[in-house]
Amino acid sequence: MSSLRSSPEWQALARHWRTLRGTTLKQLFDADAQRGTRLTAEGAGLYLDYSKNLVTGETLRLLQKLATARGVFARRDAMFHGDKINETERRAVLHVALRAPRGERIVVDGKDVVPEVHAVLDRMAAFSDKVRLGEWRGHSGKAIRNVVSIGIGGSDLGPVMAYEALKHYSRRDMTFRFISNVDPVDFVEATRDLAAEETLFIVCSKTFTTLETLTNAHAARGWCLQQLGGNETAVAKHFVAVSTNAAEVEKFGIDTANMFGFWDWVGGRYSMDSAIGLSTMLAIGSEAFRDMLAGFHAMDEHFKTTPAERNLPLLMGLLSIWYNDFFGAQTVAVLPYAQYLKRFPAYLQQLTMESNGKHVTLDGRHVEVATGPIYWGEPGTNGQHSFYQLIHQGTRLIPCDFIGFDHSLTSMDGQHGLLMANLIAQTEALAFGKTPAQVRAEGTPEWLVPHRVCEGNRPTNTLMGERLTPHTLGALVALYEHSVFTQGAIWNIDSFDQWGVELGKQLAQKVIPQLQDSQEPKLEHDSSTNALIRRYRRARNPTAQRTLG
Ligand code: F6P
Repeated sequence: MSSLRSSPEWQALARHWRTLRGTTLKQLFDADAQRGTRLTAEGAGLYLDYSKNLVTGETLRLLQKLATARGVFARRDAMFHGDKINETERRAVLHVALRAPRGERIVVDGKDVVPEVHAVLDRMAAFSDKVRLGEWRGHSGKAIRNVVSIGIGGSDLGPVMAYEALKHYSRRDMTFRFISNVDPVDFVEATRDLAAEETLFIVCSKTFTTLETLTNAHAARGWCLQQLGGNETAVAKHFVAVSTNAAEVEKFGIDTANMFGFWDWVGGRYSMDSAIGLSTMLAIGSEAFRDMLAGFHAMDEHFKTTPAERNLPLLMGLLSIWYNDFFGAQTVAVLPYAQYLKRFPAYLQQLTMESNGKHVTLDGRHVEVATGPIYWGEPGTNGQHSFYQLIHQGTRLIPCDFIGFDHSLTSMDGQHGLLMANLIAQTEALAFGKTPAQVRAEGTPEWLVPHRVCEGNRPTNTLMGERLTPHTLGALVALYEHSVFTQGAIWNIDSFDQWGVELGKQLAQKVIPQLQDSQEPKLEHDSSTNALIRRYRRARNPTAQRTLG
């Protein structure tokens, strides 16, 4: 693909940015009384107000032209069609097939994959019904009351986030825990008060070779067998696996009859709506899980069919490009005004940064512009009393996504009003700030005026839904998935590989025996790494080290 920076569309945006950068949000709003209702769009049950962004109609027109010139729409269609757009791994990118309704046809390598998706969903539903009804019995004949999902990265962040987000709809008489870190503390804390005879482990790993997951799965098996009298047949009653790798699942000792599969065309960070979401289904039930899939699908359809000027993921992706590459913003803050979404920013970090943290284009050339902004955030209102100060008065531009709902899932609706008032007030404060004249009018002494001035002009998106339901959550996740896609397509990078993660994994494999071997290892790292290894060995075994000199 031709150079991004020197393309006429990019150049036009750069010229436009130079003319617009001195314009304030206040001026934009003063010039157009309808702006707050005009620059809005709706799709899949979500309302997006993007009026408080540093854009004009011309900016949006130029960004849309850029999207066309960079082949975003053709690439989107190729993704939905099952083409192998994950070029470095030579794979199709078909998380959209995970939520395709029964009867839809999506062909990969000559095979319609939708029937297989529904076959797995049906098996998951049958299994989850059995567990929820108390019909799936543990080794000692007791029903399952605890579900522990073991996985990491995409095999953990989605399930944890979805469980927290949809807790309102979950079985409160069951306990759900998640273990991801190889730090043994994670395992010990998650299991310390559980009885193995009532516990089901779901081992989630696409590859079934991930160090952290396999280590924790072995620890879980040992913990279970110790409590259940060492009888290996207990494993079948207390372990199920979610993976694409049947051979490794079998090697671990889980009967493949208790395995739920998915496919190489589902990326780890795009897999919470596959069998990786089995814990979600066990928590909320198969009907609610299907509602979540319907929400994903509604946003897929919106992305596929809605004209650019009203297309939520496209608009959000293009706005992110605008701030990242023209204004030089390095981060995006995601601020859900919904305590249930407390894990949503952490989930988004993998989705956005593992996808678009790339330094070369698909043709292997170094990218010409900054890619992958840093996504971060915390629920409001807590963040307001922590880092918002920097967003309001710091020296960096931090575009923010505010997320809120019309109705609370509690009966404390008055208190919900306080929450939403804060959301709305923050977007107003960030956009329009407080001028020196306004500060003086409050009787502020002159020396204090500069400290109390808020410049404003801080851009925000506001996303609103009616209430947080499984359907809304699906739509919200798909919205960000497709926004990430849009950004990656503009940059012409592979948003679906993650080669950078490999190096650390390989080096860890080398260091593990160097920490554990009883014989002093021959170390050939740099002097810092060698010293750290020696220091750790000395700390663990001072006597041996003294003898060795
Ligand atoms: O950290 C890299 C990664 O490959 C992620 O992309 C993935 O979500 C995670 O590891 C877990 O991988 P697996 O599901 O194969 O255990």
